[in-house]
Amino acid sequence: MRETILKRDFGTPASISTETVTLEIDGVEVTVPAGTSVMRAAAESDVNIPKLCATESLEAFGSCRLCLVEIEGRKGYPASCTTPVEPGMKVRTQTPKLQALRKGVMELYVSDHPLDCLTCPANGNCELQDMAGVVGLREVRYGFDGSNHLRDKKDESNPYFTYDPSKCIVCSRCVRACEEIQGTFALTISGRGFDSRVSPGRMQPFMESECVSCGACVEACPTATLMEKTIIQLGQAEHSITTTCAYCGVGCSLRAEMKGNEVVRMVPHKDGKANEGHACVKGRFAWGYATHKDRITKPMIRRKISDPWQEVSWDEALDYAASEFKRIQAKYGRDSVGGIVSSRCTNEEDYLMQKLVRAAFGNNNVDNCARVCHSPTGYGLKQTLGESAGTQAFKSVEHSDVIMVIGANPSDGHPVFASRLKRRLREGAKLIVIDPRRIDLVKSPHVAADFHLQLKPGTNVAVISALAHVIVTEDLLQEEFIAQRCEEKSFEQWKAFVALPENSPEAMEAVTGVPAQMMRDAARLYATGGNAAIYYGLGVTEHAQGSTMVMGIANLAMATGNIGRDGVGVNPLRGQNNVQGSCDMGSFPHELPGYRHVSDATARMQFEAAWGVELQPEPGLRIPNMFDAALHGSFKGLYCQGEDIVQSDPNTQHVAAALSAMECIVVQDIFLNETAKYAHVLLPGSSFLEKDGTFTNAERRISRVRKVMAPKAGFADWEVTMHLAKRLGYDMHYNHPSEIMDEIAMLTPTFRGVSYAKLDRLGSIQWPCTDDAPEGTPIMHKEQFVRGKGRFMLTKYVATDEKVTRKYPLILTTGRILSQYNAGVQTRRTENVRWYSEDRLEIHPHDAQERGVKDGDWVGVQSRAGDTVLRALVTERVQPGVVYSTFHFPESGANVITTDNSDWATNCPEYKVTAVQVMPVTHPSAWQQHFSEFSRTQLGLLHAAAPAGSE
Ligand code: SF4
Ligand code: SF4
Ligand code: SF4
Ligand code: FES
Repeated sequence: MRETILKRDFGTPASISTETVTLEIDGVEVTVPAGTSVMRAAAESDVNIPKLCATESLEAFGSCRLCLVEIEGRKGYPASCTTPVEPGMKVRTQTPKLQALRKGVMELYVSDHPLDCLTCPANGNCELQDMAGVVGLREVRYGFDGSNHLRDKKDESNPYFTYDPSKCIVCSRCVRACEEIQGTFALTISGRGFDSRVSPGRMQPFMESECVSCGACVEACPTATLMEKTIIQLGQAEHSITTTCAYCGVGCSLRAEMKGNEVVRMVPHKDGKANEGHACVKGRFAWGYATHKDRITKPMIRRKISDPWQEVSWDEALDYAASEFKRIQAKYGRDSVGGIVSSRCTNEEDYLMQKLVRAAFGNNNVDNCARVCHSPTGYGLKQTLGESAGTQAFKSVEHSDVIMVIGANPSDGHPVFASRLKRRLREGAKLIVIDPRRIDLVKSPHVAADFHLQLKPGTNVAVISALAHVIVTEDLLQEEFIAQRCEEKSFEQWKAFVALPENSPEAMEAVTGVPAQMMRDAARLYATGGNAAIYYGLGVTEHAQGSTMVMGIANLAMATGNIGRDGVGVNPLRGQNNVQGSCDMGSFPHELPGYRHVSDATARMQFEAAWGVELQPEPGLRIPNMFDAALHGSFKGLYCQGEDIVQSDPNTQHVAAALSAMECIVVQDIFLNETAKYAHVLLPGSSFLEKDGTFTNAERRISRVRKVMAPKAGFADWEVTMHLAKRLGYDMHYNHPSEIMDEIAMLTPTFRGVSYAKLDRLGSIQWPCTDDAPEGTPIMHKEQFVRGKGRFMLTKYVATDEKVTRKYPLILTTGRILSQYNAGVQTRRTENVRWYSEDRLEIHPHDAQERGVKDGDWVGVQSRAGDTVLRALVTERVQPGVVYSTFHFPESGANVITTDNSDWATNCPEYKVTAVQVMPVTHPSAWQQHFSEFSRTQLGLLHAAAPAGSE
């Protein structure tokens, strides 16, 4: 779907008022919502008043004076952008006087502006240039010799955009975008009058300022002052295609602006419902990996991982992979092979992968990376509310009065949602943060948490029970909601349980480290502060009691009636772009698409009829079970699509040993990732720019991914899976991913009404999309819970087995950073490394001093599972006794130290709690030395790959 680049801008934001006002503009009667600006009212009736400082994504500012109008009965010439409509108002937008005034304004601007329009990168997409044309500017009476800024120096420090102050008209759109949209407050206008200039921080270069490179200011700038470097290099685009970001679970809608089949920039889509015109440094700028020289573009095979790779044709690679899987199954049995589905791939690809495993391998050995992130969400929410997904749309936060953020760091992990959340906080909503670490939200410009419950890692369940204790014992329950909507018996049991003195904040204080009074105040605020919403992340799920905590969160929301309407709810912030989708598509060993258990004979029969095969009623192997089975010799072959399990799963050495014990590993990926170094068949993957499909974000929103260029290796991932299935003896045939979606819709009740045609019409759809909700369901559990009555579950706190001892006295917890993404396979191949080029170990000054560690020192981090070496970052962000690390760089080996402990219900690893010792060291760890040697060898084998036909 090619679109034109030109964008309509109504000048000021739309009013949400339900009342209307009728006025007259240039003699034509116009009716608009009350609160609309005269500028927008005119634009809505196709009268475009010239403007420079106004844009519809920002509140009107009224500084440029280009949008002047005449209003009958009023003196002077008011700015139309800051003047709200009034009933009966008579506005004139085009008179000789107005034309003269506007020309005068433009003359002043242009007299201090370089006249290099033909060679300017904004040529063809410059609002100043457009306005000069619109007002009919023909001469500049002031000349060009007066004082000016034409020699102001460019700031090229940011890798993605330049700031050329010689072109700045000081409209302050950038400053307002940074404040209103992004919420970072990195820019100011310094100086006054003629001397006023845009300044990042205290006149610092962008890279040294607080700027997080979200690009909102660049998008807002009407001139070439803030300009993408790709546009400077490649020129303006000639068409655009709307697609969806392939990084995080926010699922921002982006417009890929193209020249032919080359992307020249990615811009956030104003109509994207998940992001409403905003993006972050990853989606906006870090897409260059898609054309990186490291891309694997040829299929390759080798018999042993010590052999060099041999480039082969697709036919040879697929034949070889299929024959190996068949050989292994013939020798070791049907269940000796399995597949790992990618949460980076599309719904259609994920659906085909699990179909291949179930129909062609004939078993249920299929799992996805939710195993290591949000599987407790699926389990916990299903048990309590009846559906394994978040309850709201992101927009719902605009109606929240109290926001509780638990174990999530949205500013880094879900940045566009964080901007939305911060906006609501600036409007006055209250904030409770429950996190062992002082995350950005605790205190950032114009945002401060009302309560930061800085708990000890691993004590979430103790905190949630203590909060519930206060709500129950202080009569803060929403009895009516509970009586109408929830199971009486489970509620009474839960109520009696949380009311036990052992669950009181006072009794739990020693366990959690959270002062009892603060816990009580936070509970009261959540229960009585109006609409209260909970947003949570992996700091909830990646624990031995991850599922218990998810159920505790759902209990709290039900007990206070905070579910089923705008502004409330239980909202998991999903990590990967399509982790919700890959779970929805049945990429689990126990569930068919739509979360139907494989033991459900009715569901199985439906799939058996559609697929023409018999399905197994017993659940298959989860990822950790696959590793264990490999080490026991019963699991020998793996098809791994788009996941880097060696880097992202816990206890790296265990994973590597399991992979080494297998006979055939087929990796389908865009790069030689850490897992591919153990592979026997390498099938080139396709990036999100190279295929059609859909992603489902954290708010259950299904959005289109659109192909903007041909797959680099010839096939999209869904085609490769289809071809492999055929060779395994199971024929699949689809001409286009839309046909796969039609099959999904036919077989999955919650997707019943989804089709590509509807997605094209609506832009996106939040499932369930059924006959009752043909355009989707932004808010779930409105009248009743999906399971009927909400079920309260008991949440007894059980301390993790991962104990702090004299040998391992600190707790390591892990997380993400804004500029890097997950295993870093993509972001490490972009300029984002300029912000973060290595994982660092955050350590409190007290713990650092005790160990003689200074900022920047190399430190050895040793756990019961292994040891590694990182550089220390001494900071009070972490509390004494706790250290923290990101896990974006394979050489850091963050997962060499994490253990096999996992959630009791789902096996989700306990990444967030590892007992460690930290000591200064001078050498990399033994594992790191082995890693660099192994990596060097594997890269050598890749670079020495023999071309096809040379064997
Ligand atoms: S940098 Fe652009 S948006 Fe900012 S004040 Fe200058 S012209 Fe306006
Ligand atoms: S890129 Fe984003 S954070 Fe940086 S100055 Fe612009 S709006 Fe602010
Ligand atoms: S917030 Fe997430 S989805 Fe949006 S641009 Fe950033 S990485 Fe992409
Ligand atoms: S557009 Fe109204 S004052 Fe600038």
